[in-house]
Amino acid sequence: MRESDTMRTVIAGIASYLPQKVVTNDDLAQMLDTSHEWIFSRTGIEQRRISANDEFASDLGVVVAKKIISQTGIDPSEIDAIIVSTTTADRRFPSCACRIQGEIGASKAFAFDINAACAGFIYGLSVSDSMMRTMGLKNVLLITAETLTKFVDWTDRLTCVLFGDGAGALLLQLSSDTSRGIISTKLYSNGEQEKYNSILSHNGPQNGHRGYTTMSGRAVFKYAIEYMSSSMTEILSENNMTIDDIDWIIPHQANKRILESMCKMKDFPLEKVVITTQLHANTSSASIPLALRDMIDCGKIKQGDTLLFTALGAGLVWASSIVRL
Ligand code: UT7
Repeated sequence: MRESDTMRTVIAGIASYLPQKVVTNDDLAQMLDTSHEWIFSRTGIEQRRISANDEFASDLGVVVAKKIISQTGIDPSEIDAIIVSTTTADRRFPSCACRIQGEIGASKAFAFDINAACAGFIYGLSVSDSMMRTMGLKNVLLITAETLTKFVDWTDRLTCVLFGDGAGALLLQLSSDTSRGIISTKLYSNGEQEKYNSILSHNGPQNGHRGYTTMSGRAVFKYAIEYMSSSMTEILSENNMTIDDIDWIIPHQANKRILESMCKMKDFPLEKVVITTQLHANTSSASIPLALRDMIDCGKIKQGDTLLFTALGAGLVWASSIVRL
């Protein structure tokens, strides 16, 4: 038996960071044909944070990486790997992860980015967990850093009201304490059919601009309910668990109405679902760590709680994971 078979990947620290600028729905109504009432009733969003013009995904990542280093007291030279989930990297290359590595002086770490859109946090958990247990990595920084507000068309009221910026960081450690940590992850993609690609995508550089996010909202709404609920049901069943074994469901925070409809249609307990959409809007792969940090700070989520993460994003990609804190 390898040492890693008796080890678990545990969450040893969680940090989050939000850009300074708060933009409310009323602020958006000053510049667009929209209203607080429309945005709030359709999505549950009340406000979002918007990064400064010169503040990019790797900048958010550097701040949140420094925060987790100071919170946990880890020496950067002990970090084995830095994995960054982002859909909005500052540059095509080098990766955000390499820039963060240099800025924090994690001289022994290897570093790379992954892009699994809004499901990127759970993909990142899965990749980190696999690498840690197969390669024996002791300390991994998993960072999610997103600046989607730089990639929306601010004249398109259908999309621009939905997104916000933010970052999260987890320090993951290999531990012999098998009573906690990552219990299971399940990842899915479906990029085969054109209709899936076109319902939520980014059209790439256009006439000198970096391009815009486009979305068919109703289709995303439907697939989010269908695929998040089926992946949660599958992962619970594969682990011989039921929803009663879960203390909190922390879904990707795209839209409160998606979560309410999912609970109603698929019989998940809404009282166990963490909803922070009102504060941050849709921050893509940063939304689950942001919600987790908020819930720990307000005392709702505690050490020992069993969490079920779920998310869906462009690709389509979707994923679920069960983790005990
Ligand atoms: O990570 C995944 C990311 N995406 C999502 O989670 C989005 C999922 N989808 C949704 O949340 C919803 O589909 C939306 C919130 C995006 C839209 O809600 P909807 O109820 O599906 O609205 P709709 O697109 O069918 O539009 C209804 C009406 C239209 O007006 P008419 O044609 O009925 O006169 C739109 O033009 O609402 C209008 N509208 C707006 N009005 C005020 C669309 N956007 C706005 C807006 N403010 N921002």
